[in-house]
Amino acid sequence: MTRVFSGIQPSGDLHLGNHLGALVNWVAMQERAECVYCVVDLHAMTSPAEHDPATLRQRTLSAATTLLAVGVDPQRSILFVQSHVHEHAECTWLLNCIAGFGELRKMPQFKDKSAGKGESVSVGLFDYPVLQSADILLYHADEVPVGEDQRHHIELARDLGQRFNHRFAPDDPVFTLPRAIHPPAAARVMDLQEPSNKMSKSTSSDKGVVYLLDDPTRIAKKIRAAVTDSATDIRYDREAKPGVSNLLEILAAATGRSIDELVVEHDGHGYGSFKAAVAEAVVELLRPVQQRHAALAADPGEVSRTLADGAARAREVAAPTLLRAKQAMGMLDAGIVREGHGW
Ligand code: TYM
Repeated sequence: MTRVFSGIQPSGDLHLGNHLGALVNWVAMQERAECVYCVVDLHAMTSPAEHDPATLRQRTLSAATTLLAVGVDPQRSILFVQSHVHEHAECTWLLNCIAGFGELRKMPQFKDKSAGKGESVSVGLFDYPVLQSADILLYHADEVPVGEDQRHHIELARDLGQRFNHRFAPDDPVFTLPRAIHPPAAARVMDLQEPSNKMSKSTSSDKGVVYLLDDPTRIAKKIRAAVTDSATDIRYDREAKPGVSNLLEILAAATGRSIDELVVEHDGHGYGSFKAAVAEAVVELLRPVQQRHAALAADPGEVSRTLADGAARAREVAAPTLLRAKQAMGMLDAGIVREGHGW
């Protein structure tokens, strides 16, 4: 059966970009694959200025609660917190020793996030994609449902997996080589106020970001205020009409209809009624998520139990993979050491 792995950072409230770019696929893939989903708290502390321990703890539980509300089903899939499975950190070290400085320095996300920070940038931020590779490779993932912004990170995981297999396990590959899966529309949802920037958890203003738990009035207000352009025609053109194109993608993804069909329906009727249609579709898409979230948030103990169970199941997959990787790299078998000491 196909194996799937994906992760999300608890670095802020989950938003429509996360949902349409990744989570819709997370949920759908449960129908046809063995899925492992992870709240990647270790990734969320790579920007020291934004790392507050109490906030991180609260956001980790909150992200897990939102994932369950979106439809991650812990009966069918594994849902866990990255730091609960120490194999991730250990496998990162192994992969660090085959990853190159040059390939990490070139990662677009590292370049963006380190810009202007000079020497103060954390080693964790630099190493971030290697930890992400370890996440994916430990679970033999064939497919990784993510938004477009993660494409280079998944390619790195593939490159490192291949390099490792070639060098240390040519006859019996340890790692499966993954590929990214993007949705047909909304693989890169843009900020509603600045449609040339990606919608992001760590944005300075939340006016351009629709959070999954925003109430319907707020959602409608943000979409009504979305930046468009001074013309009135509705057509898909990312360069000339980034705001309108973004709304078309959102509407297509939220309704499952094609962009062409939506253009025919809305062109000539002005931006007002078009934005109203987008708002209505998003409100309806998120309504069941918000209802389930209210029920789940009332019982955080149950969410924590689900995560503990998920971590135990995740380790059953991750630990043997790590052991094989260590053996392939020449680490002495721990059993031999124990015998030697008479334990
Ligand atoms: P993160 O937490 O930034 O985002 C989680 C998922 O949401 C997608 N996404 C978007 N998709 C479309 N439009 C947007 N504006 C948008 N913003 C975010 C992301 O592509 C992602 O799929 N490095 C990862 C987390 C991670 C991971 C992994 C992912 C760690 N280990 C292993 C896959 C596999 C990240 O920061 O995602």
